[in-house]
Amino acid sequence: MYQSMKGMLAKANAEGYAVMAINAFNLETARGVIAAAEEMNAPIIIDLLQDHVKAYFDCDILTVPIIKMAQAAHVPVAINLDHGHDIAHLKRCLQEGFSSVMCDASALSPEENARVTRGVVELAQIYGASVEAEVGHMGCAVGEDAHFTDYAMYTDPDVAIAFIKETGVDCLAVSYGSTHGDYPEGYVPTFHFDIVEKIKAATGAPLVLHGGSGAGDENMRRSVEVGINKINVGTDYMIVQREFVAKTLAENPDYDYPQLCEDSWRAGIDTIKHYIELSGSYGKA
Ligand code: 13P
Repeated sequence: MYQSMKGMLAKANAEGYAVMAINAFNLETARGVIAAAEEMNAPIIIDLLQDHVKAYFDCDILTVPIIKMAQAAHVPVAINLDHGHDIAHLKRCLQEGFSSVMCDASALSPEENARVTRGVVELAQIYGASVEAEVGHMGCAVGEDAHFTDYAMYTDPDVAIAFIKETGVDCLAVSYGSTHGDYPEGYVPTFHFDIVEKIKAATGAPLVLHGGSGAGDENMRRSVEVGINKINVGTDYMIVQREFVAKTLAENPDYDYPQLCEDSWRAGIDTIKHYIELSGSYGKA
């Protein structure tokens, strides 16, 4: 069942759980996401990161088969453009059939962020698509600009509350301690749940946790309790597949390559199932 995130997140909000949004970047990784959701009878969101779409995923060609897979699935599946900064590109994704888009104008001033997001909300309505936005920022644990999320990057609840009312977004990503990417071994981030609680109490809107990988099971559970309805996980799904490929080739360098491709996306399924369980969306399809 192919859907937008809107109804999916409204149900999650009403029933007190979160829908997992897993990053995929090709047909195989998308198949893994849908397979995990079907095994858990859970609604699911395939998050296609704008940078991945531009680099690896020909939107004109690959959106159609992913939508077909979503339509054939026996659980609700949404396709969401993740961190869409480039509005012209975001529009193209809507034209190609994405059921949801994230307009990430969080690097702009709150006023500009609201102005750009309002425009995307109006545009998405034409396509019947839902819109996620972001107030505050999340850092990235890896790469040249590695920077853990700090106090200055957290979401200001008052700004977020005004933003939700002003823009009419379907859900809002909030920064309260998570960072994108792979945390150092043994590190568990401190989450400031009061930020989520305050925004939820004032708006009742579906809220989103980014940077779910490695955030810790307890942080995840508590996030759902205080009002998070969408949890993004990408890195952990990629790492488990990369480790499978590395281990398999170390043990058998002659492993059949088509079989390796097939087995690697299947190797990611259990990780997604674990997150579905934590999110409370198990059996909620
Ligand atoms: P992780 O890769 O840290 O799980 O973050 C995913 C994400 O938030 C995508 O927007």
